[in-house]
Amino acid sequence: MCGIVGYLGAKEKKEILLDGLKELEYRGYDSAGIAVIEGVNLNSFKAVGKLENLVRKAKDFKADSFGVAIGHTRWATHGKPTELNAHPHLGKKSYVVHNGIIENYQELKKELISEGVEFLSQTDTEVIVHLFEKYNSELNEPFEAFKKTIERLDGAYATLLITKDAPDTIFFAKHGSPMLIGFDGDDVYFASSDTAIIGKADKVYYLEDGEYGYAKSGEVKLFNSKGEKSFTTKPLDGDKLSAQKDGYRFFMEKEIYEQSRVIVDTMMGRVLDSEVTLEEVNESFFEGIDSIKICACGTSYHSALATSYLFERMAKIRCDVEIASEFRYKEPLLDKSTLFITISQSGETADTLEALKMAKRAGLKSLTICNVDNSSIVRESDVALLTRAGIEKGVASTKAFATQTMLLWILAIYIAQLRGTLDRETIQKEIEAMRHSPTVLKVTDELHSKIHRLSKRYLHGHGFFFIGRDIFYPLALEGALKLKEISYLHAEGYPAGEMKHGPIALADSNLFTIALMPKTLLYDKIKSNVEELSARDATILAISPEPFDLADDFIQTKQAIHPMLEFFEMMVITQLLALEISIRLGNDVDMPRNLAKSVTVE
Ligand code: AGP
Repeated sequence: MCGIVGYLGAKEKKEILLDGLKELEYRGYDSAGIAVIEGVNLNSFKAVGKLENLVRKAKDFKADSFGVAIGHTRWATHGKPTELNAHPHLGKKSYVVHNGIIENYQELKKELISEGVEFLSQTDTEVIVHLFEKYNSELNEPFEAFKKTIERLDGAYATLLITKDAPDTIFFAKHGSPMLIGFDGDDVYFASSDTAIIGKADKVYYLEDGEYGYAKSGEVKLFNSKGEKSFTTKPLDGDKLSAQKDGYRFFMEKEIYEQSRVIVDTMMGRVLDSEVTLEEVNESFFEGIDSIKICACGTSYHSALATSYLFERMAKIRCDVEIASEFRYKEPLLDKSTLFITISQSGETADTLEALKMAKRAGLKSLTICNVDNSSIVRESDVALLTRAGIEKGVASTKAFATQTMLLWILAIYIAQLRGTLDRETIQKEIEAMRHSPTVLKVTDELHSKIHRLSKRYLHGHGFFFIGRDIFYPLALEGALKLKEISYLHAEGYPAGEMKHGPIALADSNLFTIALMPKTLLYDKIKSNVEELSARDATILAISPEPFDLADDFIQTKQAIHPMLEFFEMMVITQLLALEISIRLGNDVDMPRNLAKSVTVE
């Protein structure tokens, strides 16, 4: 969700903050702001909209003597994206930035207002700075005041606070939202994700929930409910170059093209000549497991749903998939013989993280499929399998989906091997198909320009239906999600066989149907479903290796030896279609409205 950066030292602070925020901007871009304290000088700048507006506003500002600085890029939860609601929030002489939601902010706000405090914003965050100033004027001890402040907060937060009363100090706290501390000599950095400080800090400590403390030149003191805590840093390495656009118009476009390469990384060391293996996990981990439950959100949920067919079909193990936000409140019945799998690109999704904690409390073994090492979900899980997709910047997830799906496919075959549910010949065929995946994920110029040409016919209409059966049904859901996220056109994914149970009522020539018609799986069944739609005059874009007479538009895919190869090829086509339609509509594909890359609020 929002992004946070902090810095303590004598380097030029504005550039450090803006640089870091640029890396985090894809997480939220409703507004941004920075605040700097150098001795007795307090300065702050805020701007609505993208970071470039803040850059313009602060262009003449420089802060290069010793001091403290905090910055924030916002995805609005409470209050509209206005300048007053932008962080940092100012008290009389202190500033705060926050990521998360303070659930009891209304009660705290009421209390402070009754004591004469004036609020400028509609945010939950502003209570933090006023509470702090209230306690600081009572105690005259900023750290004690900060401690007392966070003790009053319910909900999720990662927060940084600076004050004129301690101009050489940054106060920090983390509970439920990500935050880390970076070190470079005596300079101290804070960020909600390490990408913001790559190339600046060389060591890092990832804060745990319930930790708080302060940084002062040369020292960082860390506390939790048991008192002061020692901590060990890890080296921070990372390659910023890999996060650049490399000549593509958008990160999403680049990430679609990268899929055929990164999928090789996902398979590396896991897909061997005649078996699959996972060195991160011991075979004994699966002892006593007789079912799987997968929890995830959005695109990650779709990869779970698609591969649940593989777990049941190949590994003959029951596999249920649930949307994490639903799972959390349904009072689920959990059994210790169930392996609890979470899937998350970011590793920070609040609902998925909470679902995982619930499963752990119930004593279940947990495994995560994640793209970000050291993320909260990775740290919380018993076993983590990293997807190795590299940094994904486009808010609309593409290569993360491809690598999650590949890794889950590998896991399904791995469990099948352990359970002895597949013969050698079938395992060999699965491996052959996996190894062929990079080829079908390649974007050719011919395909891309065809989709570009076709896209101009799909800019209007009253909606899109993506339809498919079996594993192509979750792919239809994903195709529709991709399109709606970045084009703002209405799109639904549906199991093709369900259309006649209601949605077919919408069919007319302005209803666009994107039909996923693989040859290796239920071709005749889906063909009949598409014929039913065509008979009602729906406009059909068919994607299939088999020419289809009734299609208004047709994208021919390759004849394949395995449904997953058709899956990956069709996935690329739906991603490119969403991309090209959205570019034609003039949208900012990488930062679609109302969305954020990492959803750290429930
Ligand atoms: C994907 O395009 C979305 N932006 C979104 O649905 C995303 O997949 C979802 O928020 C889950 O995120 P996660 O994978 O980081 O947990």
